[in-house]
Amino acid sequence: LPPETQQMYEAHDLLRKFYHHLLVNTKDGQHALEYLLDRGFTLESIAKFQIGYSLNSWDFVLKFLTKRKFPTEVIEKAGLIIKREKDGNYFDRFRDRIMFPIYDRNGQTIAFSGRSLGADEPKYLNSPETVIFNKSKILYNFHLARPQIKKQQQAILFEGFADVIAADRAGVENGIGTMGTSLTEDHVSALRRNVQSITICYDSDHAGIEAAYRAGNMLSEAGCQVRVALMPDGMDPDDYIKQVGEEPFRKEVIGASVTLMAFKLRYYRRGKRLHDEGDRLLYIEEVLAEISKLDNAVERDHYLRQIANEFSLSLEALKEQQKQIFFNQKRKD
Ligand code: GTP
Ligand code: MN
Ligand code: MN
Ligand code: MN
Ligand code: MN
Repeated sequence: LPPETQQMYEAHDLLRKFYHHLLVNTKDGQHALEYLLDRGFTLESIAKFQIGYSLNSWDFVLKFLTKRKFPTEVIEKAGLIIKREKDGNYFDRFRDRIMFPIYDRNGQTIAFSGRSLGADEPKYLNSPETVIFNKSKILYNFHLARPQIKKQQQAILFEGFADVIAADRAGVENGIGTMGTSLTEDHVSALRRNVQSITICYDSDHAGIEAAYRAGNMLSEAGCQVRVALMPDGMDPDDYIKQVGEEPFRKEVIGASVTLMAFKLRYYRRGKRLHDEGDRLLYIEEVLAEISKLDNAVERDHYLRQIANEFSLSLEALKEQQKQIFFNQKRKD
């Protein structure tokens, strides 16, 4: 490795340990620790995920690393300090934030995400892209979850850090997350290389449901068996585990996940009044288009029957229309 790259790893490693120390052992970190404990984080998971606290200081990181002989340019390239345009002085990127270390697949710390304690914007501040950190490739918690994913032949995909950590506390140790960005093809291939069954457990709010639809299609096109786990309206996994409980999360959320197709049936239902003929016909059309994309004839038959029953339609007519949609799709391809 080039010496600069080596130094970037070392700087992240040192800071991870020090941020963690500040959070769990010092008066400066006490309010941050209380915030986390209030939210339901445990000391055990704070240690396991090496959560930390960055001081409310403009130059703590610069001094801390300079004292340890790290060149200023390296600290800047690592994204830990920022050069101010007007005077060329440097200041710390992360100040007064809860620090989540981001690890690569080998367990090396390569970046941080810092959550504000109050209403400060942005809520989460990430390290910039660097030679050691490529956000579109990194899955949060992959290094810890991978053995569990292999063992259970199943991965659970979450939206946020807090969700991955709360799920782990609830005994769901095969969870990974994207870093706020949407799922990329790089994420999909990294996952697909390790596992076929993936359960998407995004926030049950508008953004989360849209993102789940998109991620579901990407994973399914890559050959994954996709299920979707849903919570009551508006909740995210972390909220659910805190408010409802760990066992209900395992049994009634993860354990009650539905197939991607069943999720899509609900997805297209949202905002429609199915007793209204226009809405109903639109719904049936959208659902038939999805059914047409299924490769498995038995599965197609299953959902066609379900729709036929629900709307008292003839199965023959539905099959006819589904074939028509299928050929129209082919023609467009
Ligand atoms: P908490 O409020 O701490 O429970 O976070 P959350 O995970 O529930 O946040 P939310 O559902 O709003 O967003 C999901 C994920 O998107 C977060 O875990 C972050 O990775 C990312 N994210 C959220 N807000 C921001 C932001 O302001 N900036 C960036 N860069 N990422 C964000
Ligand atoms: Mn969200
Ligand atoms: Mn949000
Ligand atoms: Mn959320
Ligand atoms: Mn949350």
